[in-house]
Amino acid sequence: MKKGSMVFFCQNCGYESAKWSGQCPACHGWNTFVEEPKAEKRMGVTAGKKRTGSSKSSPVSINRISSGEQERISTGMAELDQVLGGGIVPGSLILVGGDPGIGKSTLLLQVCRNLAERLPDLLYISGEESLQQIKLRASRIGSFRESLKLLCETNLADIEETVLREKPKAVVIDSIQTMYQEEISSAPGSVSQVREATGVLMRLAKEQGITIFIVGHVTKEGTVAGPRVLEHMVDTVLYFEGDRHASYRILRGVKNRFGSTNEIGVFEMQEDGLREVANPSEYMLSGKPEGASGSVVACAMEGTRPMLLEVQALVCRTNFGLPRRTAAGMDYNRVNLLMAVLEKRLNLPLSSYDAYVNIAGGMRLNEPAMDLALVLAVISSYKDIPVSEKTIVFGEVGLSGEVRAVNMVQQRVQEAKKLGFTRAVLPKSSLGQVKNMTGIELAGVATVRDALRIVI
Ligand code: TYD
Ligand code: MG
Repeated sequence: MKKGSMVFFCQNCGYESAKWSGQCPACHGWNTFVEEPKAEKRMGVTAGKKRTGSSKSSPVSINRISSGEQERISTGMAELDQVLGGGIVPGSLILVGGDPGIGKSTLLLQVCRNLAERLPDLLYISGEESLQQIKLRASRIGSFRESLKLLCETNLADIEETVLREKPKAVVIDSIQTMYQEEISSAPGSVSQVREATGVLMRLAKEQGITIFIVGHVTKEGTVAGPRVLEHMVDTVLYFEGDRHASYRILRGVKNRFGSTNEIGVFEMQEDGLREVANPSEYMLSGKPEGASGSVVACAMEGTRPMLLEVQALVCRTNFGLPRRTAAGMDYNRVNLLMAVLEKRLNLPLSSYDAYVNIAGGMRLNEPAMDLALVLAVISSYKDIPVSEKTIVFGEVGLSGEVRAVNMVQQRVQEAKKLGFTRAVLPKSSLGQVKNMTGIELAGVATVRDALRIVI
């Protein structure tokens, strides 16, 4: 190998550089650069084509193209359909990323089972497991139609040939990090291999009108390129996340050329595969303690979907000079900031108290609308007075202790009402957004002090 043909890639974001550096200038990750042979093949318009005078590509008038809006195929899972924007679009490339062991293969096998009811031919290609291992998983999930075919293969040229021969309507590639092309000298899972392989699959999807699902493992370190390297190439990016120890999983859309992003789907991992959780709020609130201090129910928005969550706080006197603070599921700095607001505006001596804040159920959220619930949970724990039951709280808290407006108020209140809450504490300035709401008391508050008077 000529020394001159080596380049450095960031494992995290795919940034290419001629020299090594400790921190990636693009994604700011540390120690992410690896040396790889430069890919000989280049993708792009000129790749692999002889330039002759007669080009096959001819422009088409915009009005003559049909939008293909009706061509959506349901995956048989309402939660997944919602994240995809109403089902899969033929000819699209969908990346499903997530930590190893989170349930990506299980999800896609279930999708294949459902799609097999609607589509004549499906191909599940695994580079990770043997046919027997896949069969073992399949037998946990249920019965399958004849139209789903399995293949164990990692050579992309062979895969391309098989797909062109078998002409399936949908293909699953599990996982992109195990696929390789012989022409590229770097190892499977390297940035160049992963990129080039995705390029080939992209072309296959578009030219043949096949929906291709790509599994990509999120890698913290090591020599395997993560799915972020591919995000810009594919049509749809879904991340499957969740606490491995908790049974619920969240499928989050972070990019979607055929629908809105920020939609989520909630699933639960069970003995016989993933089950959809149609009512996540109910699920998240199950096991909420009754009459305990430091527990407040908030309403957060996940995309267009409201979700009720329990915010918990435990405040106790610190044994050392420096108070300890931890935040699980929330931004640590935000927690510190809000505690400073309480100290200054409500004269609470919180600097001599430890505080542990948690969102029950292991959800992670970064929404300012959770502020008011957090603040009230902290005060409730500090005073050891429970917040009245059947009350939900949302609103952003500003630096002077004011409660500021948030969006999608109607949906949040609606969700609370649906789950039997009888009072919603919300920003006063947002009250106007709620229309025709009966059966739930609306308490508009302008400051944290107002809110305190109502709930504690
Ligand atoms: P898997 O789909 O193999 O994860 P990934 O492809 O993302 O690496 O899922 C692995 C986990 O799911 C494994 O710990 C076993 C568990 N599981 C169940 O709990 N129930 C099931 O029905 C199946 C198939 C798997
Ligand atoms: Mg897997």
